[in-house]
Amino acid sequence: MNLFVTGGAGFIGANFILQARQQGWGRVVNLDKLTYASNLQTLVDLETDPDYTFVRGDIGNLELVNHLFEQYQPDAVINFAAESHVDRSILNPQDFIQTNVVGTFRLLEAARNYWQHLAATQRDRFRFLHVSTDEVYGSLGPSDPAFREETPYAPNSPYAASKAAADHLVRAYYHTYHLPTLTTHCSNNYGPRQFPEKLIPLILLNALEGKPLPIYGDGQNVRDWLYVTDHCEALYQVLRQGQIGATYNIGGQNEQTNLAVVETICTLLDKLVPQVGLSRSSLITFVKDRPGHDRRYAIDCSKISRELGWQPRENFDSGLAKTIQWYLDHPDWVAQVRSGTYQTWLKQNYDNRET
Ligand code: NAD
Ligand code: TYD
Repeated sequence: MNLFVTGGAGFIGANFILQARQQGWGRVVNLDKLTYASNLQTLVDLETDPDYTFVRGDIGNLELVNHLFEQYQPDAVINFAAESHVDRSILNPQDFIQTNVVGTFRLLEAARNYWQHLAATQRDRFRFLHVSTDEVYGSLGPSDPAFREETPYAPNSPYAASKAAADHLVRAYYHTYHLPTLTTHCSNNYGPRQFPEKLIPLILLNALEGKPLPIYGDGQNVRDWLYVTDHCEALYQVLRQGQIGATYNIGGQNEQTNLAVVETICTLLDKLVPQVGLSRSSLITFVKDRPGHDRRYAIDCSKISRELGWQPRENFDSGLAKTIQWYLDHPDWVAQVRSGTYQTWLKQNYDNRET
């Protein structure tokens, strides 16, 4: 397969590309705008790979995207490109509308134009896989059933609303133009190469440096955590066997409160990198809550398991241990992503959250 990956210099996209090349899923063209969340160092091992091409650009640049479709003749688009951090969407929603909504719309237009003019066999093979999130379903109470594919949309943050809008466009392109689309809704990912604005790498790196570990509100918000390579395998299964026009929920069957996640990281670090006289959990600091903070996400992923035979391989203990080890082994990667604008972000998001 010729895979056209967008946003492949970010966390999940880069892991997907590395897996795709290692496991022979196909040739890859990676279109990425290289925002603050990206790091090309992640993909440095592919620089000499003749079946991997990187293009710097915006999914919203219709002329460029049209040209890339013509030049690389992809069998599939996997759309990871997005602004992805809820806190940034609260402070500055504009970029989320531009990339997640307008960008996805332009990508769909380019795909439709390309797909319509393909020969019959290529047309039948083509897929547009849109990578979405469980956050479009809103927030659950403690005993509510987990999100199913039929759960009504109820996005609460500007991020979730922008992803929901994009999902609706993808749905409309299938129903109106019969573009062969697939949409996935995944729960929170963790693993190597995640930008340290998200909970797990932020806490891990702060804990290593003996800095405060900020927990929003009472720390009882619940997320379902999935190891990133499991997500990427699920996406590949959806691409290969998913029913055109369908949506698939992907989750780790691993609900945890934020406080429990942070405490587990502290315990693991105290064992792996002990620091005399310091118990990392003493660094936990409860800070002002995120506005509109969703209380609980939980994913019912029985459909993908039943129909496509996918199951997560990693459990939370093994996945977290691997994640911590990866960050310990890659200080240069960490130093690179934490330079420059990262420091500005930390000030903006944390300085005015009183303890
Ligand atoms: P990320 O923020 O780490 O990476 C996003 C990438 O997209 C970056 O490399 C960035 O440079 C690129 N990008 C941003 N705007 C672009 C544009 N206009 N044109 C081209 N490239 C652009 O995000 P991630 O965590 O890897 O998430 C990838 C996708 O998966 C997103 O669509 C997100 O909504 C979805 N998702 C993420 C999670 C999660 O836990 N991280 C869970 C479910 C779904
Ligand atoms: P995050 O990693 O930003 O993912 P999302 O908001 O998409 O679920 O946050 C995960 C959870 O951790 C969420 O409930 C917010 C919380 N959180 C903190 O308590 N402190 C922090 O510093 C961050 C970044 C997140």
